[in-house]
Amino acid sequence: MEKTYLMVKPDGVQRGLIGEITARFEKKGFRLVGAKLMHVPRETAEQHYGEHKERPFFGELVDFITSGPVFAMVWEGENVIATARQMMGATNPKDAAPATIRGDYAVSVGKNIIHGSDSPESAAREIGIFFKEEELTDYQKSGSEWVY
Ligand code: TYD
Ligand code: MG
Repeated sequence: MEKTYLMVKPDGVQRGLIGEITARFEKKGFRLVGAKLMHVPRETAEQHYGEHKERPFFGELVDFITSGPVFAMVWEGENVIATARQMMGATNPKDAAPATIRGDYAVSVGKNIIHGSDSPESAAREIGIFFKEEELTDYQKSGSEWVY
């Protein structure tokens, strides 16, 4: 089953949005298979956002993501990578549709509440950066024949 890496960024944690955000993915029908509240080490942040290292915002992005705890998660389900991206909304919250997470809770691109992997390759890479194999849980939910 497809998996993705989602992360409530430091602004989302500080604003008390962990519950609100995880509830959306739970209610959608996805399954949480790993989660932890953590400070991201600077090296890990630089690795995670490596594709942006030449961009002008890279330094601020790394400063921001290391500025407070994040809530790191792995979610599983059919088409979870693309669907989670839709549920997050556009990168810049000014362009994010209402009823998306960024559309509902964020105003600026630098503090846009949530990260989500953008492809199967990114998902595998990012899950590997933030989680050890043994931190992910394999289980069935009752009623899973209706959703998964
Ligand atoms: P990106 O991977 O393009 O967006 P997404 O998070 O939707 O996959 O960029 C990573 C993060 O970098 C983005 O969530 C917020 C930050 N960022 C800026 O601060 N300024 C920018 O102009 C862009 C494009 C991104
Ligand atoms: Mg991205």
